[in-house]
Amino acid sequence: MKYPCLWTACATCAPIALGLLTLEAAEIDAAKLPPPAKKTVVYEKDIKPILTKACLDCHSEEAAMGDFRVDDRKAILDGGASGKAILPGQSDKSPIIHYVAHLIKKMEMPPLRQGDPLKPDQIALLRAWIDQGVKFKETDEPAKPAPKPAADTDKSTPKTKP
Ligand code: HEC
Repeated sequence: MKYPCLWTACATCAPIALGLLTLEAAEIDAAKLPPPAKKTVVYEKDIKPILTKACLDCHSEEAAMGDFRVDDRKAILDGGASGKAILPGQSDKSPIIHYVAHLIKKMEMPPLRQGDPLKPDQIALLRAWIDQGVKFKETDEPAKPAPKPAADTDKSTPKTKP
């Protein structure tokens, strides 16, 4: 064989690369999240106290770390420097939930040693709030879930003729 080293390298590296990919995917394991609370949440009563105590010091108009604010509906839905933190209707996929549940290293919120971690029942309330449309007032329209890829939603062109 002319290049035995190349083949050896491939055989050695491929499983490692695959292993790393698996590790990456396993890092966010939504099954580890507390399930959403089974009730209609009210922002003023259930959510505001959590965000005010645990997040507001670092995520307000005055101090928006990561360019993220929790005290305004538009701002919280817009997200921060790294994009959307909330996917309405999809709390299991929302980065904010991954952060508060400590599923992502170095992005624990509140940051480690800078505040008490949220309790499972608080995460459950936040999840229900996101799933119910991130309402600040009871009169708010529920925020829309992220649109699906065009292929899934395009019903205007029937795939087959009857
Ligand atoms: C002591 C300060 C502090 C507290 C308290 C805190 N955070 Fe953060 N937060 C930060 C810092 C600093 C960053 C930027 C981290 C980075 O990008 O590496 C950040 C980033 C974020 C981001 C990502 C923003 C982006 O788009 O980059 C989210 C979402 C977030 N925090 C949510 C929360 C929530 C929810 C709470 C309360 C449960 C909270 N944080 C409490 C300091 C704090």
